[in-house]
Amino acid sequence: QENTLVLITEHGDLGNGRFFDPHNKISFKYDHLKKEASDPKPHEGEAALRSWRDACDSALRVYVKEHYPNGVCTVYGKTVDGQKTIIACIESHQFEPKNFWNGRCRSEWKFSISQSTAQVVGVLKVQVHYYEDGNVQLVSHKDVQEALTVSNESQTAKELVKIIENAENEYQQAISENYQTMSDTTFKALRRQLPVTRTKIDWNKILSYKIGKEMQNA
Ligand SMILES: *[C@@H]1O[C@H](CO)[C@@H](O)[C@H](O)[C@H]1NC(C)=O
Repeated sequence: QENTLVLITEHGDLGNGRFFDPHNKISFKYDHLKKEASDPKPHEGEAALRSWRDACDSALRVYVKEHYPNGVCTVYGKTVDGQKTIIACIESHQFEPKNFWNGRCRSEWKFSISQSTAQVVGVLKVQVHYYEDGNVQLVSHKDVQEALTVSNESQTAKELVKIIENAENEYQQAISENYQTMSDTTFKALRRQLPVTRTKIDWNKILSYKIGKEMQNA
C-alpha cells in the first residue's frame, strides 16, 4: 500500500487539475474538494534526471519508513530555472480528534545536480492543534541550508538523506525542549497543562513524607 501513496504538491502540478506521481510514473486528475483521484495515465518524468530521482527516492523511502509512523514522501526530478533539480517532500501526521489534538509535520528539500557542490535548501514545518478546554496552536517552521557534494547517484542520495536526518532530528529536539518550556510557563498561564507526561517522581521524597506522617501519628 505504501507504494501507492503520493503527495499532492505544487511540484507535481501538471496543470488542468492533473498531478504527477513520479514513483509510480503516472499522472492523474485530482479533485481538491472531493479529495478524489481519477483518470490515471502513464507519465514519465524527465529522462535526464531519472536515475538521480530514483536513487534519492529509494534512499528517502527507507529513512521515512524508519522515522515516521505515518510518513509519506515524494521525490521529483525536474528542470527548474534551467537547473536539473531534485525536490524531496515529506509529510507525516497524527490526527487524534477523540483526544482533541492533531499534529502534522512537513519538510521539503531541493538541490541541483548541475554543480559538484550543491546547496541543499530545506524547510521544515510543524503544526500542532490542541483544543480540549481551549484552543492552542503551535505553528513552527525552520529554514535549513547545507552543502552537498554531488558525486554519483547512490552516494549523493545517501548524503542527502544524512542531511535531512540530521536537520529533522535537531529540529525535533529543539521543538521538544521548547514544548516542555512552554508547558511549564506559557500553557501554565493558560491554566491548562498540555498532556505531557512529565512524570518525574521523587520516590525518596514520597517515602520520607509518608514516614514523617506516620511518625506524627505515632
Ligand atoms: C559512488 O561514489 C562513492 C564515493 O565517491 C564510491 O565509493 C562508490 O563506489 C561509487 N559508486 C558507484 C556505483 O560508482
